[in-house]
Amino acid sequence: MLWSKSFETGNELVDEQHKEIFRLVQQVLDADAFANRKAQIETALDFLSGYAVRHFASEEALMAESNYPAFEEHKAQHDSFVKEVVAFMERVKTEGGTISISETINNFVIEWLKEHIMDRDKAMADHYKGWQVSN
Ligand SMILES: [Fe+2]
Repeated sequence: MLWSKSFETGNELVDEQHKEIFRLVQQVLDADAFANRKAQIETALDFLSGYAVRHFASEEALMAESNYPAFEEHKAQHDSFVKEVVAFMERVKTEGGTISISETINNFVIEWLKEHIMDRDKAMADHYKGWQVSN
């Protein structure tokens, strides 16, 4: 399991969505075991990009609602993540579903998530909690 308690931001909605993203990443990892790896990776990336867009929109709504001062920087990270995933989709289309590409995708997504959650999302959730208390 890729998820660990250390990723908890304390915001229930955000944490549930993060767990789902980790589950989707696990599907890309598990695709190694299947004969039709390309289709598996494509399906997982498709879900991942769709889900990430919805998840980022939820976070951005929380940030907007609470007048989060670092909204723009945070949103810029979300946007660049989506661009990277789209670029991976293109690569899988042309290069096929090699083990090397699935490893590259997993490393990128997992590292990005860990860093983003620990740094940006926790700060955002703390701010949101503080805003809720004072409102
Ligand atoms: Fe975020």
